[in-house]
Amino acid sequence: MTTPLHETTLASKPSGDVLAIRGGRPLHGRVDVKGAKNLATKAMVATLLGETVSTLRDVPDLSDVAVVRSLLEVHGVRVTEGDEPGALVFDPSDVESAHFEEIDAHAGASRIPILFCGPLLHRLGQAFIPDLGGCRIGDRPIDFHLDALRKFGAVVEKLPSGIRLSAPNGLKGANIHLPYPSVGATEQVLLTAVRAQGQTELRNAAIEPEIMDLIAVLQKMGAIISYEPNRVILIEGVDKLRGYDHRSIFDRNEAASWACAALATDGEIFVGGARQQEMLTFLNVFRKAGGWFDVREDGILFRRDGALKPVIVETDVHPGFMTDWQQPLVVALTQAHGRSVVHETVYENRMGFTDALVKMGADIVVHPHGLQDGPRRVARRELEQAAVITGPTPLHGADIVVPDLRGGYSHVIAALTATGESRVSGIDILSRGYEKFLDKLTALGADFDVIG
Ligand code: EPU
Repeated sequence: MTTPLHETTLASKPSGDVLAIRGGRPLHGRVDVKGAKNLATKAMVATLLGETVSTLRDVPDLSDVAVVRSLLEVHGVRVTEGDEPGALVFDPSDVESAHFEEIDAHAGASRIPILFCGPLLHRLGQAFIPDLGGCRIGDRPIDFHLDALRKFGAVVEKLPSGIRLSAPNGLKGANIHLPYPSVGATEQVLLTAVRAQGQTELRNAAIEPEIMDLIAVLQKMGAIISYEPNRVILIEGVDKLRGYDHRSIFDRNEAASWACAALATDGEIFVGGARQQEMLTFLNVFRKAGGWFDVREDGILFRRDGALKPVIVETDVHPGFMTDWQQPLVVALTQAHGRSVVHETVYENRMGFTDALVKMGADIVVHPHGLQDGPRRVARRELEQAAVITGPTPLHGADIVVPDLRGGYSHVIAALTATGESRVSGIDILSRGYEKFLDKLTALGADFDVIG
């Protein structure tokens, strides 16, 4: 058994799940972001498809990474440290079936296990996927995944404890049109099609930068994937894939989170490793909200540019404004002069975190069925919610419980923006997506103690 990576994530402070945060002090300093959670975990799954060893670099030290590592290990992949910090080496030469109980025990609270389906079907002819976790931000169904797998020829059997899949006649290329450009379902199709027999045409695919990076990984392995106009991806299946050596794309969600922390607390944060290109949409909104940034060779510096201004934002698939960026932005918008609106169009339940901000003094009204008024960039989705934020409102300390990864981050930032002391419980969840989170807060001058 290996030591889960995340056991070291909250290093240098005693480990605990409750923070006492004394706010009102701007955050100043430098944080560095590593590889993206939402690429690294998928690139790790891809190692199962190769016949030789793969090396992934800049792997972040996160609990989701630890879950995927354990799942690979129970399936016989040997995982070792690489030739530089943050590099992991994956040897898939002894891939084997794992026991249902073992898989279930290691799947943790992550949604990534669903992506093991295609690779395991290719390697072993069968797969078992336990009930999935992940943040509680809506129903988060897997119907697109299962429909796509069936089109490849997989037989899906639903059991009380999960899903069992088999491929009695092997997997064959398919024509798939996703009902929505789902990130996970696009990855599912890519990871399955690369070794399926014949060609796969995927329409309405997600085209997030992390997906483009996964395509780059698969191409290094020997896959033939072309990206056509209008969200169409063509994959020509090949018989064999080899291992890869790849440095992960940076975590733009973490970078955006720290940028918003600088905005909310009126501080100045240099995010090492952040790049402009993948953050263009975020940077536009950041600027419109009264933020200032300077793009440098090795990262981006973020701070305010005078008083904060209200903005109207709608979350969307790439190249739109990511759903993972809205929660920390909302904290900053409580300090903007005027009325902001955030339309959440990706998930049906991603505004719950605002309850805690209201408790801290924010003026936020959530419209659970969205707002109809005003011209919109994208057609309204049935599951849309909208939050109307009126500012500026001083925030005061409160006792709050972290609901999910991005909502939890926003709670911590709200507590750092507020005057007085807050107790924030459940911060362990942040280790799913923020590497060395408490160390970074300390480096930025945050005043807090781990108390429970
Ligand atoms: N959806 C379905 N059926 C499916 C799959 C998705 O209806 O079979 C719906 C979802 O319910 C949701 C929408 O499609 O309303 C978009 O879901 P998507 O599949 O794109 O999301 P995901 O792959 O489950 C990834 C990230 C999320 C990020 C979203 C959107 C990972 C591990 N997770 O989730 O990241 O918010 O894409 O960009 O890559 C996070 O990092 O905190 C996080 C939640």
